[in-house]
Amino acid sequence: MVNRPKVVINVAQSLNGMIAGTSGRRVNISSDEDLIRVHSLRAGMDAILVGANTVINDDPKLLVDQSFAEVDKQPVRIVVDRRLKIPGNARILDGSGKTIIYTSRNGGKLENAEIRVRNESQLKIENILSELYDSGIRNLLVEGGKEVIVEFIEAGCVDEFYLFIGNVLIEEGGLRLFNPEKEIKNIMRDVRPMERGVLISLDPHYLLRSWK
Ligand SMILES: NC(=O)c1ccc[n+]([C@@H]2O[C@H](COP(=O)([O-])OP(=O)(O)OC[C@H]3O[C@@H](n4cnc5c(N)ncnc54)[C@H](OP(=O)(O)O)[C@@H]3O)[C@@H](O)[C@H]2O)c1
Repeated sequence: MVNRPKVVINVAQSLNGMIAGTSGRRVNISSDEDLIRVHSLRAGMDAILVGANTVINDDPKLLVDQSFAEVDKQPVRIVVDRRLKIPGNARILDGSGKTIIYTSRNGGKLENAEIRVRNESQLKIENILSELYDSGIRNLLVEGGKEVIVEFIEAGCVDEFYLFIGNVLIEEGGLRLFNPEKEIKNIMRDVRPMERGVLISLDPHYLLRSWK
């Protein structure tokens, strides 16, 4: 088996199963207690990965906020961006940490980022993970969005999966996280009440086996 980092997925959804509003509008779902949990989770990671649409719609910094958790070294920020469409003024390009972009587009330039141009087969999740492992990354937090999370599930490359369900309903037309092709039962490992929501740990191995 090819070596890969340990992969942890973390995502927040509304009570009615959405992770964003219509047209990908960012919605605040987490509570302060959940933010402390997320930043503590980030603090234990070598890298954090998101998809290009998440950068475009949410403009996250993807750093450990020191007011929530302490860290000596910030995780590497990784974006998968096949067509290199993220804007040059995105906050992950602010130079305050290392940022790597995986793309298939040649010749693009972005300040403060290492651009790794790869062909389609090298952009498969398994291959990106193997390359990250070879560059010393042993654990990776995947923070969305939907397309990227589904790719990890379908590739069978998830070790832990945390889902915060927040005290909010999002309008129809929002982005729904789960659309399995068939009914899947018994996928919760653990459930914990939190401020303004619940944290669910899903069984990724069962989810992977049952997805398709
Ligand atoms: N609630 C939460 O916890 C949370 C967290 C994060 C994001 N979100 C929401 O999720 C939404 C975005 O989700 P999304 O499903 O639209 O998009 P996404 O997963 O953030 O990003 C998809 C993009 O990544 C590129 N991509 C995917 N896999 C790739 C690969 N293996 N190699 C290279 N590029 C790859 C795709 O490129 P191509 O299109 O060129 O194929 C596509 O542009 C945002 O609106 C955000 O608000 C919510």
